[in-house]
Amino acid sequence: MVRHKLYKKENKPVSFSPEVLEKVHALIRRYPPGKQKSALLMVLHIAQEELGGYLTVDIMDYVAFLLDLQPIEVYEVATFYSMFHLEPVGKYVIEVCRTSPCAITGGENILQYLQEKLGIKTGETTANGLFTLKAVECLGACGNAPVMQVNTEFYENLTKDKIDRILEEMEKKANQESIPEKRWVKIFY
Ligand code: FES
Repeated sequence: MVRHKLYKKENKPVSFSPEVLEKVHALIRRYPPGKQKSALLMVLHIAQEELGGYLTVDIMDYVAFLLDLQPIEVYEVATFYSMFHLEPVGKYVIEVCRTSPCAITGGENILQYLQEKLGIKTGETTANGLFTLKAVECLGACGNAPVMQVNTEFYENLTKDKIDRILEEMEKKANQESIPEKRWVKIFY
């Protein structure tokens, strides 16, 4: 049983819509009996997107039930990968790479600048619910360091000016898009 305060079980009913559930079952059936764990990352992405933007213990337990896994097998994956959120996040999740190639090419300054600009610390969300700031390990684009990812988009060779333009664009976009586009079911199915 997960005991960290962030991961408190609330016993809230959780389920996918019948349409999404059908697609999730189809994903699971791609793998031979006993190998259904192979669908875990895909189902977690879909769960996060479809069930409120972050993974509660109830959601992780539901995923474990669907995949016939022990809950701990789901917790250990969901808590390992930075793309899974375990608490509410803003509309735009900014993940700044802090691994060595990015750190030595200015990544630390970028992170510091974002904290100042947004008025939040790493791990926090702005009061208007627009931005969450995270520091993550290598995003796999070291050749264009420093790098950050915002939701599913990559931004490379970052400078303070570039950050200003990116944030401005996102603020504008946020006023136009009320609901973030749902991608994962489409990508995996
Ligand atoms: S070190 Fe930053 S992308 Fe690899």
